[in-house]
Amino acid sequence: MKKILATILLSSSLVFATENNKIVKIGQETSLKLMKALKFHLIKAMSESPYEAIDVCHKKALKITKQIEKEIDHGIKIKRTSIRYRNPLNKPNKEELEALEYFEKSFKEGKNPKYYIQKVKDGYNFYKPLKIKAICLTCHGNPKNMDKKLYEKIKKYYPEDKAINYKLEDFRGVIKVYIPQELVK
Ligand code: HEC
Repeated sequence: MKKILATILLSSSLVFATENNKIVKIGQETSLKLMKALKFHLIKAMSESPYEAIDVCHKKALKITKQIEKEIDHGIKIKRTSIRYRNPLNKPNKEELEALEYFEKSFKEGKNPKYYIQKVKDGYNFYKPLKIKAICLTCHGNPKNMDKKLYEKIKKYYPEDKAINYKLEDFRGVIKVYIPQELVK
């Protein structure tokens, strides 16, 4: 009896381990794809002027995200979200808030988790944390140190902006990748 129980337990944890590997693989690949695309457009625009780059983030970030979703297909969904969000369309829902709070707490405790996985109806949510790098401070730093014209433009597009006053290496938010159940079977 004990042996049977052990075998059942072992095989179910093995099933979960392979499912887990697939979730991590799809999650990492998808978020990397989005990060690369956003970075490409951002750097291209910033090399002209950060003032213009705001328009890239403002008009293109959500479009680029949708475009990548379409390219990957298979029902995968991608979203960027944050507790201190800039665009109200990126506001976290209840389950996203749970992931954001998990990262916030872990980083405060000196831990460094690379991802968070949530079982949801019909699939999984994979979350990748994003930290503030020097380039991010141009638009998410202390307004006193930001280009005046640039900050005015941010305020105009996002009157309720919460995404300022970050410091280097602060936890900024997550990329969430929803992965349908059938992709990890
Ligand atoms: C040129 C200015 C600019 C730079 C540089 C920039 N951002 Fe943003 N960021 C924005 C704007 C504008 C938005 C709102 C985008 C939208 O309307 O969807 C935004 C939104 C976000 C969001 C989505 C959640 C929210 O607040 O709406 C995250 C996450 C984010 N930025 C992280 C970063 C990180 C990490 C970096 C550095 C690697 C960075 N940003 C660099 C301007 C910038």
